[in-house]
Amino acid sequence: MSSKSRDEIAVAYRSAPWWYDLRGFFILTFAYNSTLTHQLRFFSPNFGPRHLEVACGSGTLLEMVLRWRKWKGLPDVQVVGVDYAESMLEGAKRRLARRANIELRHADAAALPYPDATFDTVNIANSIHCLPDVDGALRDIFRVVKPGGTLATNVLLYPQGMWPLKQIAQRIDDWGIRKGILYTPYHREDIRRRVVAAGFEVVSEAVSGNCFDVLGRKPSIASGESRA
Ligand SMILES: C[S@@+](CC[C@H](N)C(=O)[O-])C[C@H]1O[C@@H](n2cnc3c(N)ncnc32)[C@H](O)[C@@H]1O
Repeated sequence: MSSKSRDEIAVAYRSAPWWYDLRGFFILTFAYNSTLTHQLRFFSPNFGPRHLEVACGSGTLLEMVLRWRKWKGLPDVQVVGVDYAESMLEGAKRRLARRANIELRHADAAALPYPDATFDTVNIANSIHCLPDVDGALRDIFRVVKPGGTLATNVLLYPQGMWPLKQIAQRIDDWGIRKGILYTPYHREDIRRRVVAAGFEVVSEAVSGNCFDVLGRKPSIASGESRA
């Protein structure tokens, strides 16, 4: 586990967009042991009319998701993207400048500048394991999503599999933690428990490569409330 603060993590994400994207491809392939197509299939359907993407980075994946949705004939949506690293956000602003339906804002995942029940859906792609305060982030996401709304996230797990893939993934994870671009991988049950502790019901869950894909839903009636 890293001991880096959110500001140190933001500095670690200060890299040229081309290097960030190239590095991301290797991390996806050898540490996550996942594919872009898999991610597009998981995230694309889980966008409601007003969607929040937490830790949107340089917007590369978000742009691909929106293209995928269009290709699949899914409806247009309003998207807000937030990230704590100014450099990442600048990249996203340049990339997505011509899209009127996307608003980008500087924010910490654990202190979202939005009123309660603002969004129909939320996602965190490839990022929950980069956050220093994952429980704070999950709590605040739960607060800003509407009752009945969903959170889709993929979480990096401690490496599985056989030699040499497991060892390669382990080395990439260790390097990421030293550099500050990875906070910690998780055990599946640990992150699942945290999602549930934040208040979400688990709608679907699956392990793919070294990633845990989980879709949580905020109950329509919060516990303790009555229908009467
Ligand atoms: C591995 S990148 C993933 C970016 C993007 N979601 C993607 O899939 O390409 C992790 C992102 O988490 C962001 N991040 C780290 N800590 C954060 C925090 N406390 N609040 C918001 N974003 C944060 C980083 O700035 C970085 O853009």
